[in-house]
Amino acid sequence: MDRHVALVGLPAVGKSSVARRLGRALRAEVVDLDAEIVRRDGRSVERIFAEEGEAAFRALERAELQRVLARRPAVVVSCGGGVVLDPANRAALSAHARVVWLDASDEALLARMEKSHTVRPLMAGDDPAERLARLRAERGPLYEEIADATVEVDRGDADTSTRAVLAVLGTGSGTGREVRETRTP
Ligand code: S3P
Repeated sequence: MDRHVALVGLPAVGKSSVARRLGRALRAEVVDLDAEIVRRDGRSVERIFAEEGEAAFRALERAELQRVLARRPAVVVSCGGGVVLDPANRAALSAHARVVWLDASDEALLARMEKSHTVRPLMAGDDPAERLARLRAERGPLYEEIADATVEVDRGDADTSTRAVLAVLGTGSGTGREVRETRTP
């Protein structure tokens, strides 16, 4: 693998589970950006948000992304949903990684969030659908801007999604945009 592979997309789309599978398939190390931040800082994402606010978390995230993208050999990195908010992160990802945007409908994402144990400070509150719609409106264009490929993962499990990502990675240089949808087998 000559370049890093970075997975981006809204919370709960399945970046971490697809990244683990991709790492196995590509024989590359898998890095979960949030997990690295937590490991280095010693606090959970939830605590960092609660004690220091989002801006402090974003600063840690930016520094961690730089470290990860400087690694050799290339890794598969699963990024927190908000990584694209920072223009410097977008530039770094575009320059050093093949970026795959995993996307799913709001309906599918909300259903996954309900089942998930991950605490997501930006999704906390009594109207998750409204929050998610806002995140999509704000970030959709940013994912689009840096994605070399988009994989729709509405249907199918993590293995199906992983196969779809491997397929887009296997097609050419990773420049130009390709959209692939997962289908239930
Ligand atoms: C965030 C998403 C989270 C985590 C943090 C902020 C966001 O990661 O980085 O809570 O801004 O969307 P996931 O996308 O893995 O939930």
